[in-house]
Formats: sequence, structure tokens, C-alpha cells
Amino acid sequence: MDDRKPNIIDDLIGLVGNKAVLQTTDDTASYLSDWHDRFHGSAHAVVLPETTAQVAAIMAYADKHDIIVVPQGGNTGFMGGATPDGSGNSILLSLRRMNKVREIDTQNMSMTVEAGCILQNLQDVAEDAGLYFPLNLAAKGSCTIGGNLGTNAGGLNVVRYGTTRALTLGLEVVLMGGEVLEMLSGLRKDNTGYDLKDLFVGSEGTLGIITAATMRLFPKPVALSTAFAEIRDVDAAVELLHRVQAASGGMIEAFELIPADILHVLFESFPDIQRPLATIGPMNVLMEIGSTNPAYNEVGGNGSSPIRSIMESVLETAFEDGLVIDATIASSDAQRDALWDVRESSPESHKRAGKLVRSDVALPQSALSAFYADMVAGVKAIDPKIRICGYGHIGDGNLHFNLVQAAGGDPDFDAKAPKLLELLYGNVTKYGGSISAEHGIGQVKRDQLAKVKSPAIINTMKSIKAALDPKNLMNPGKVI
Ligand code: FAD
Ligand code: LAC
Ligand code: ZN
Repeated sequence: MDDRKPNIIDDLIGLVGNKAVLQTTDDTASYLSDWHDRFHGSAHAVVLPETTAQVAAIMAYADKHDIIVVPQGGNTGFMGGATPDGSGNSILLSLRRMNKVREIDTQNMSMTVEAGCILQNLQDVAEDAGLYFPLNLAAKGSCTIGGNLGTNAGGLNVVRYGTTRALTLGLEVVLMGGEVLEMLSGLRKDNTGYDLKDLFVGSEGTLGIITAATMRLFPKPVALSTAFAEIRDVDAAVELLHRVQAASGGMIEAFELIPADILHVLFESFPDIQRPLATIGPMNVLMEIGSTNPAYNEVGGNGSSPIRSIMESVLETAFEDGLVIDATIASSDAQRDALWDVRESSPESHKRAGKLVRSDVALPQSALSAFYADMVAGVKAIDPKIRICGYGHIGDGNLHFNLVQAAGGDPDFDAKAPKLLELLYGNVTKYGGSISAEHGIGQVKRDQLAKVKSPAIINTMKSIKAALDPKNLMNPGKVI
């Protein structure tokens, strides 16, 4: 047996070539910290393979020499899942160069794509083929489908199309040791044993490397109506959601909650973003309905298209019933884009606002209003100046209940953060919610996961992890 220490860099270059191995600080810095600049790690090298065979070779090598592998896509994740630890005994495996679209099957309404494809490029590729890929998040210009699969990303259109898992038909995965699981089926139904693909979706790089996926495509909604409405309260949002769903026949594409503080924080950082309404009301929603039938766009005798008429009539009735206080419906693509700009710039405005407690919780629709009220009362008791940015995908019962330090800064905010988190997680438990709706666990919520799941569940997760990664080399320290 050869027990000499391997020359890791030379060996990696031998496996993937000189240009695919980055090791200088300048080249690697952006890979070794997260989007929020909250986590920092180190690695032997950042390796950028171009083929599944190269990934398999790296995984065989890492297994043989007990080297940690941390997969990374666009590095936009919120949970520190793609940042290695500080040991330096890691390969940061960036999938960004595996960015080919292998196949588009328009008859089967599916596409098979490599993990490093940027989400926005996949949306464009689907559109060029006359179809629609509905996964959509504000990070679409830099996140990758591999990262979306790794986190089971949600985003803005889950209310209609489901999370990334629901959009996934097949996967190609490389295991620690280098074995390739070829599961790239485009089948809609396939009950042949355990569904391994569902195990890897949302596993945050702790079970294997996703190298390619077959994703569902849809007909493109060509008639859209987008509205921003000031509403009475959170209860009114839930009532409005059900009314729009019923009136449109299930055509809701997106339904987002936007409280006043979201707008205040947003306009501080982005003063040029267009105000949706003349005044900022305490609670608002941004909603969109869509039809794939172009006839819904045709303007009729009443001067309104069918899709717009549906929106108008729901809003009118909701106004009469006191649910809606004021509203605007986009009359052009430019107006629609301006409304979405408000929503999509919010995460960046929070980053710029400085200290905050971020969150990503899911609640039953029936509990949203009571949860929200308890949170507001609890936060005000801790510090009435904290900006309460409880916003997001209320159509899915998913809120990012972000709590942003007082305007102008608060040197004592860090001392308040543990109390705010205790309040948050206490209310999540009280109302039967989840501590992670769509961002995952990573290293941020690992300890919290252990608190909210039973020992039986945690032990089952650990057994799965041990079966696939007995030496704990796949993204250790994340999830469990
Ligand atoms: P990375 O950050 O690189 O990795 C994320 C995790 O997946 C890590 O644990 C990593 O190890 C693992 N991973 C990456 N690639 C692979 C692979 N090929 N195989 C196995 N594991 C892998 N998220 C939402 O869900 N909804 C939103 O609405 C949303 N909005 C956002 C808006 C902004 C402005 C930003 C910056 C982020 C947002 N996010 C959102 C979070 C983030 O964009 C998503 O989690 C996204 O899915 C991460 O993709 P990525 O390619 O950047 O993954
Ligand atoms: C959002 C991200 C943060 O929905 O998930 O804004
Ligand atoms: Zn979100």
C-alpha cells in the first residue's frame, strides 16, 4: 500500500486539466464565502469539471484520500450550504462549467440539462422551444439548476407549479466513490422501487453530486394580469387568494405578501424603483394570474381583456367587502415589470439594510393571520423600532419573516437577535409550521432542525446519510 501523502493539486489537474483547478486566493475567494458574506471557508482548490466522468473521477479520488467534497452552483444559497468548513481539507466542486442543455423533448414537454445551467438560461431555452419552465426566483440570473435541485428551491410560481421537486422527472447523480446513478427518465409515472431522485432533491449536497436533471416543461402563459393591492390585513390576503383562485379557475401564477416595512426598506436602497400605489399601506399583495390561451388577451366590448376582467371583478368585489383598500392593475409589460421589480429587489435591499434576522417559514394557510399577529406583538415588545418585513410567498403559506434593525442602525441589534429567533421558532411550533420552507437547512439551521424533529426522524436521516456517505465526506456539517 502506498501511504505517501498525495499531491492533491497535481492529481486534480491530472483528472480535470490545468484550467479547471483554481488555487490562488484571487481566483477562489468568491467561491469560499456565501452570498451574505456570513460564512467563510477554505479548500485545497476549487475544481470546475465539465463532464459527469470528470465528476466521477474526482469523487473516486476524494473517497480514496478522505477529502471532503462541497458541491456548489451559483453560490446564491441562504443557508451557508455551499461554503466549506475552515479545515482546508475540502475540494470545492463548482458545477458551473457543466452547463449544457442535453435535450429538449417538446413532445414529452421536458428538458434534460446539466447541473451548472443558470436558471434564467433554462427559462430562455424553454421559451425558444415554445414552452415554459416555471421555476422563478430573484436569483435566476446567477443560481443554477443544480443548486435549485440541491435546495429544492421554491420561488415565485410555486402556487401554480410546485417546488423544484415537483418539476423534476429524472436525475443523474454521482455518489461518493464515483458511482453514477443514471436516473434521467422523462417519465411522469414510474413506481419501480424507492424513488431515489426525491432523496437527492433538497439534500443540499450531503448525499451526492447532481450532475444533470430532466425537468418538466409547460405551455407558456401568454395572457397575464398582474395587480398590486393594498389590503385590510393578512386575513384579507388569504381570503383574496381563495377568491382569485376560484374566479380564475386556478390560474394564479403568483401571490406575494408585501407589508409596509418591505417598501420602506426597499425605497431606502432603491429610491428610483417606482411606487406601486400613491401611498404605502400597512399590508399589500402582488398577484398574477395567467392563461395559456391567447384569447384571454383579446380586448372585448367593455374595453377589457378576459384576463384583466377576471382580476378587475375580483378586486371590485373585494373592495366592496372591505378586503381591498386600493389597487392597481398593470396595463403594459413595463408596468408589470415595475411591479415585479418591487418584489424581486427586496432580498437585495435587506442585505443592504445591514443587521437583520432572516427567516423562511411555512405555516398552514389557516394559521397565517394568527401567526402574523403574534409575531408583530412579540417583535414590538422586544423593540418597537425593528422593521417588520414579514413578506413573501403567502400563496404557499411561506413567509420570509425578516426583522430588520431600526432605520439608521442599532448597535444593540445582535443582543436582540436570539430573542427574535426564539419568538419566531416558538410561534412556528405553536402554529404547526416549518422552520424551512424553501431555503433548506445548510449550516444555519442545523441545530434548530435537531430540536424540531423527533429522534426517530433524525436517526432515519442519519442512517440514510451513513449508507450513502459512510466516511462523512459529502458536505459535512450541513443539514444533520
Ligand atoms: P448554491 O448556493 O451554490 O448551493 C446551494 C446548496 O445546494 C448547497 O448546499 C450546495 O452544496 C448544494 N448544491 C449546489 N449544487 C449542487 C449539485 N449540483 N449537486 C448537489 N448539491 C448541490 N430560494 C428560494 O427557494 N426561493 C426564492 O424565492 C429565492 N430567492 C432568492 C433571491 C435572491 C436575491 C437570492 C440571492 C437567493 C434567493 N434564494 C431563493 C436562495 C437561492 O437562490 C436558492 O437556494 C438557489 O436554489 C440556490 O442555487 P445555487 O445554484 O446558487 O446553489
Ligand atoms: C425571496 C427569497 C429570499 O423570496 O426567498 O425573496
Ligand atoms: Zn422566497
